[in-house]
Amino acid sequence: MSAYDVDPGVAAAVRGFTLPEKLGFGLVNAPVMYSATWREGAWSRGQLLPYGPIELWPGSRALQYAELVFEGLKAYRVGQERPSFFRPEENCRRMARSAARMSMPVVSEPLFFEGIEAVTRTCSDFIPRQSGRSLYLRPFLCGTENSYLLKNSSTFRFMVIANPVEAYAAGALKVTIERTDVRAAAGGIGEAKAAANYAASLRASTAAVNRGCTVALWLDAAHHRDVQELSGMNVFVVIDGELHTPALDGTILPGVTRDSLLQLARSLGYATHERRIAIDEIIDGIRSGACTEVFACGTAAIVSPIESLWESDGRHHSPPNVDVVAKRLRESLLAIQERRAPDPFGWTRDLSIA
Ligand code: COI
Repeated sequence: MSAYDVDPGVAAAVRGFTLPEKLGFGLVNAPVMYSATWREGAWSRGQLLPYGPIELWPGSRALQYAELVFEGLKAYRVGQERPSFFRPEENCRRMARSAARMSMPVVSEPLFFEGIEAVTRTCSDFIPRQSGRSLYLRPFLCGTENSYLLKNSSTFRFMVIANPVEAYAAGALKVTIERTDVRAAAGGIGEAKAAANYAASLRASTAAVNRGCTVALWLDAAHHRDVQELSGMNVFVVIDGELHTPALDGTILPGVTRDSLLQLARSLGYATHERRIAIDEIIDGIRSGACTEVFACGTAAIVSPIESLWESDGRHHSPPNVDVVAKRLRESLLAIQERRAPDPFGWTRDLSIA
């Protein structure tokens, strides 16, 4: 007997689903979702349900106060029968840290894995087989108590939804340097994967998209000087042939892809540096030729080259190289993620047999 309940509608939902050719990122919803609820200090038995709308009090803290943290990870099935995950324990740990920062209950590792495995197993036939495509899993935890009182909920819901996807963006990104709005400040929740961080970024990201860019590049809150991250992606800079990325100072999401690239780059012989990087250092470096390349990375983005950094007045800065180091790292990382190459780091993990 399964450790979770399977709704009678699941079989029909799965039968009725066909994988379209065009996937985009998040355009196509997998036909099932997993849900468990927290009440009186304990998690309920999980349920696998057909994908669909959920009931939430309009006054729930998730909606009123953004009491919500989430994760993003992928299941792969390129050239292999059995799906595999990439460093899923890291997502589980990060979700626990995000929950702790927001003072929400921790989703235990067994519950986290039950959720992602139930959805992945049921959707195995819909995991794209082409390189660069995968099943994106979005576990999330939200406060469901119907109350305006400024304290945490006493009831929560943990869910896993999923989407067969391509990479978040096709081709090289144009990014807008955001010099006014702030995403996260020291002591805030910048390093938690909290919905509120994304809410704070949406105005700048929407303005970036309206200007023909993909996303905004955030600077530190105190001085608007040091680079933090892109909304939803970490950033790397190649200076004098070495890799530099902003240090994790509490305001930046500790990306699993970021960490993997640092390890992978070192194994490929690159020197790596995690430090404060002023936006002027990058711009001056592009002018002098010291900074040859800039790229973004994340679970959704994989490794995406950046072709130009834009100011709001239309001036822009274009590094001479686009997708040179990034391509090498992306190909090496994807080959491990998709199990086309050996995995010396022990990063991939089979979907367990039910
Ligand atoms: C991810 O890469 O998993 C993210 O959360 C990025 C998302 C905002 C599209």
